Amino acid sequence: MVEFQGVSKIYPGQPPAVDNLNLSVESGKITVFVGPSGCGKTTSLRMINRMVEPTSGSITVGGRNVGDIPAPELRRSMGYVMQQAGLLPHRTVVDNVATVLRLNKVPRAQARQRSMELLETVGLSAAMAKRYPNQLSGGQQQRVGVARALAADPPILLMDEPFSAVDPVVRAELQHELLRLQRELDKTIIFVTHDIDEATLLGDRVAVFAVGGRVAQYASPEEILRAPVDDFVANFVGRDRGFRRLSFSSGAAVPVHEVATVAWPRKHDDVSSPRVPGAPAWVLAVDAEDRPLGWLSPADSAGPGRPGAAVSPSLVPGGSLFHSGDPLRTALDSALSSPSGLGVAVDDEGRVAGVVKGPEVLAAIDAVREGKN
Ligand SMILES: Nc1ncnc2c1ncn2[C@@H]1O[C@H](COP(=O)(O)OP(=O)(O)O)[C@@H](O)[C@H]1O
Ligand SMILES: [Mg+2]
Repeated sequence: MVEFQGVSKIYPGQPPAVDNLNLSVESGKITVFVGPSGCGKTTSLRMINRMVEPTSGSITVGGRNVGDIPAPELRRSMGYVMQQAGLLPHRTVVDNVATVLRLNKVPRAQARQRSMELLETVGLSAAMAKRYPNQLSGGQQQRVGVARALAADPPILLMDEPFSAVDPVVRAELQHELLRLQRELDKTIIFVTHDIDEATLLGDRVAVFAVGGRVAQYASPEEILRAPVDDFVANFVGRDRGFRRLSFSSGAAVPVHEVATVAWPRKHDDVSSPRVPGAPAWVLAVDAEDRPLGWLSPADSAGPGRPGAAVSPSLVPGGSLFHSGDPLRTALDSALSSPSGLGVAVDDEGRVAGVVKGPEVLAAIDAVREGKN
């Protein structure tokens, strides 16, 4: 749907900002431009909506050469989100979104109503609508930026480092919101970032830009992590790419074992407390619905009155959970983060399904590395 054919951008007296870019962006997918700063990602993005004109080559959208489409018309057909949301400071949040609709000649009342709906779509409450941009957090401003970009319901969304300026926790939230939105909206999204983790999380396809405005590799995230084409991509992707790759490998092969559980809070006279045969072991405390609450250490799990048991033992917080269907990386995280060394596996309802063992997760990882899986 968006096609770069031999596109270059050269500013006088400088090496090319973009050098002979040939790339085809698929409709209804998220395509990510990733790479270190200064390698031509923003320039490439801005040539799509003619904020920058190429020195040579052509860009077509839906078969039409963008050079033949008047710039204002072209820009109205594409949403644009930047790193700093770029909101109008003297307009309320709802008016910031409505402005785009008013430009498209949507009547005032209808524009307001639609804007309120869009704010809800991006996860902002009605109470936020009347605020001014500086009364919102960075993450909330970015959400407004996304709502505004969606206002005219453009088929194409251009996003230039939209989440780079917010803290990591909010960034993760915004990334998952975008994936959720995209499942509903089916836009053609071109997303620029310098963060390889963000690129592989969001992208259906990822273009790795190298110094000099050259695309070093254009492939699925999985392929880029598994088979970087050259040293530049390998270095950019990082040494721990083997670990990142686990995000794409199924954890289904990891055996799930039974685990001793105890209902929590435990009654003091509870004689049915689990007695694990042999050496004392970690016991998983669960609520009435069988959902995990934390671990009882081997000393405490011996039960009240047993030698070494605390009078009122407290739970050791459990590690992260492994849901059925999660990738290997999540299985590994759950085993490594658990105080017992056993990763807690849960079913779709969050009920305990059993535990995974660290050494067995590592064996499954080795099997993937050796290409057996
Ligand atoms: N308006 C401009 N005038 C001169 N040089 C520019 C201009 N815009 C970008 N450049 C140069 O082009 C190169 C690519 O920039 P850019 O596309 O912004 O990179 P990225 O988004 O990957 O960080 C950089 O070397 C930058 O300095
Ligand atoms: Mg940039």
